[in-house]
Amino acid sequence: MTAILNPKIIPLNEVPTTAEVCATQPHYSATEHQDRMAYAKRLLKQQDAVLVAHYYVSEDLQQLAEESGGYVSDSLDMARFGHEHPATTLVVAGVRFMGETAKILNPEKRVLMPTLQAECSLDLGCPADEFNAFCDQYPDHEIVVYSNTSAEVKARADWVVTSSIALKVVSHLMDQDKKVLWAPDKHLGRYIQRVTGADMVLWQGSCIVHDEFKFRGLKQLISMHPDAAVLVHPESPEEVIELADVVGSTTTLINAARDLPNKELIVGTDKGIFYKMQQIAPGKTFIEAPTGGEGATCRSCAHCPWMAMNGLHNLIQVLETGENEIHVEEAIRIKALRSTQRMLDFARQQTE
Ligand code: 13P
Ligand code: SF4
Repeated sequence: MTAILNPKIIPLNEVPTTAEVCATQPHYSATEHQDRMAYAKRLLKQQDAVLVAHYYVSEDLQQLAEESGGYVSDSLDMARFGHEHPATTLVVAGVRFMGETAKILNPEKRVLMPTLQAECSLDLGCPADEFNAFCDQYPDHEIVVYSNTSAEVKARADWVVTSSIALKVVSHLMDQDKKVLWAPDKHLGRYIQRVTGADMVLWQGSCIVHDEFKFRGLKQLISMHPDAAVLVHPESPEEVIELADVVGSTTTLINAARDLPNKELIVGTDKGIFYKMQQIAPGKTFIEAPTGGEGATCRSCAHCPWMAMNGLHNLIQVLETGENEIHVEEAIRIKALRSTQRMLDFARQQTE
């Protein structure tokens, strides 16, 4: 059974296009860039800070994280790494929910972000008051929310999951005959429902980046590259997912790029991921899955406008000034911690 609630729609004209965001980012010469990287490393050290970055942020931030003892990964692993690292300051390069998750798990640490403007359409499309009203309609359902949500929404949930653990958590709940209320990504929810057969009600949110991948364009591309494997993130539309050889979180897709025998890979997720894919699978060819429909234009063109707001310049600025600290109200944090910690504990049990 699938119940549907209309989410608050974000008017697309209120979301900056990725091209607009990128046009505002400073450009450095090679020497300036080298100097800025060295300066950022010194600042990180001076501040006892570690940089935790998502695969979708710019190459220089991914490189800085790797070269300075920080970490680049998917949203589950970012949370895990930040939680286990001894640094007293976590600098989270990604979008707001990633910084909030770090704070929920680490109240004693200072959590900074290069920008506080980096939202996520899934988080924006699931306001806590409307979500609470939705949950009230299904008191006998287990509430499972994607990590791409606010701390308030996590506080109402029984479980927080990311795309790398969602299938396992829902299967686990199914084994206990539980019904599931899922929010906010409708495509990921539908995918989980199809794979597990779980009884789920779905909030109807979506990711503005993955929503742009097009079935027809992808089909055409596959016919032009018959030997290519197709890797797709499950925030994509159902018909796009159906064309995929591998569906999974960003880490799953990167590992597939390395492990599959195919020399060509068509990739249906944010193109920030190509940096790591090229590193881990040198010599392979990566092709972007198409986003523009016939005669149409794309707004994100497979790169998240909010992820693109993170740069070396604003990372340096927050380390210099201590600006952009993430705070989560304590009463909400304690509730959100329950559902978030549950995910980390469950993930750890899976690997033991
Ligand atoms: P992952 O958990 O797969 O890194 O995805 C996070 C995200 O925002 C994808 O759009
Ligand atoms: Fe949110 Fe989509 Fe951006 Fe990921 S890519 S942060 S889901 S808007």
